Order: sequence, then structure tokens, then C-alpha cells
Amino acid sequence: MELVKVSNYEEMSKKASEILFDVIKENEKPVIGLATGSTPEGTYKELIQKLNGSDVDQNNITTFNLDEYVGLDKDHEQSYSYYMHENFFNHVSIPAENVHLLNGKAEDAESEVTAYEEAIDEAGLDVQLLGIGRNGHIAFNEPGTSFESLTHVVDLTPETIEDNSRFFDNLGDVPSKAFTMGLKSIMKAKKVVILIYGENKKEALQALLSGEVTEENPASVLNNHNDVTIIADAAAIGE
Ligand code: F6R
Repeated sequence: MELVKVSNYEEMSKKASEILFDVIKENEKPVIGLATGSTPEGTYKELIQKLNGSDVDQNNITTFNLDEYVGLDKDHEQSYSYYMHENFFNHVSIPAENVHLLNGKAEDAESEVTAYEEAIDEAGLDVQLLGIGRNGHIAFNEPGTSFESLTHVVDLTPETIEDNSRFFDNLGDVPSKAFTMGLKSIMKAKKVVILIYGENKKEALQALLSGEVTEENPASVLNNHNDVTIIADAAAIGE
């Protein structure tokens, strides 16, 4: 794992967008895995500028998102679909049919997750962008998730529900389940970029860097991947 130290949010966002943009330029039909949350918002701003200021044919780009709340419609303001359109897709010209988002309202959860994983396998992820939870979760894979997990439905932990409640009016409005790519799905990506920003992610970063690989720390599976870039700021590093 390579650790890139940055001094602030802007630098992290620039660095992450550069890596994504390089993958896009290097591949004829780039397939990029995307994340939501507060951490990558700046990355999307930068990437929008890079894409729109270049002659890259955006028709060739395919995307997959990590996760989605179960029960939220794609137009719900707190859905990850809404987030992705607000922060990225509405500002670029990637064709809608190339955008893969889990459907929070899917009636048949089993077919939803199976079809999603098959689509990932068919396309092949060139790069996966990740954030991390305080408890080491990546996507919605909470501690204890099998490293063999593929796209599946999860029960969110009280800690994650509380962390995510800042976006909802009430704690009770936060969905208790989510669709998520599994740890094995994430590991299928050729390259992984994980953003770790802020003091409250310090322990998660330390645990990742400790090299201990355990299902109690979902992100630790990344120690088994041969191309991971961690971009972390001084506060997360503890400097
Ligand atoms: C979001 C996701 C989550 C977040 C994590 C950190 O798609 O997969 O694992 O990356 O919860 O969220 P923020 O960036 O809001 O701290």
C-alpha cells in the first residue's frame, strides 16, 4: 500500500481526481468504481473539471457505485443515487446507461445483488474509489463481514446509522439496511484509491496501516491487494 500524505482537503481531492483521470485516459473503455459520503465530494468537483476540460470521450466511461440505502427511491435527497447525480453525473456527459447504481427500491433484493455483481464481472473495474468509516467499514461492509462477500444486503450498525444521521432530519429516518458491494467485489478492482480525511478517521487509518488483516476490520482486506493508494491528511495521520 502506498501512503500519500496531503496537507488539506483540497490537495487530497486534487490527488484523487488525478489518479482517477489517469485511469480514464489510459483505458479505451474505463470502468471506475465510485463512493459517496463527505470525503469524495471535492474529488468529484475536480474530476468534473478535468473531464470537461479534456477531449476524453465520456461515452466510453462506465461507473459502478459501491452502495445504496434499502428503501430509498433514487430521487430521495438522501439516496446515494441523488448524491451521485448532484455531485457528479449531472455535470458530466457519461451516458446514463453506463451508470450503475444499486436500486434501493428493488423488489427482489436477491436478483438485484446478483445482477450487479455479474455486471461488475462483465465490465471489470479498472479503479475503485473508497472512503472509510470510523470502524474501518468500506462501502457498507461493517466489521465481521466476510472477506469473501459479494454484493449483498446489510444491516447497518448503530455507529454507522448515527454517523449518517447528520444528513437526515431524525435518527429514526436513517434506513437500517443497505445494498453494498462486498469486500471481494471491491478487491476485484485492478486499482484501489482510499481517502482517509480528518482526525476522527485516525484510528481507522492506524488499524489499516498496522498490517493486521482481520474481518473485524473490513478495510484491512486491502492489505491483500497489490495496488492500493491511501490518500490521508495530517490530522488522520496524527501529525
Ligand atoms: C459511501 C461509502 C462509505 C463511506 C464512509 C465514509 O459510498 O461507501 O463507506 O465511504 O462511510 O463516509 P464519509 O466520507 O462521509 O466520512
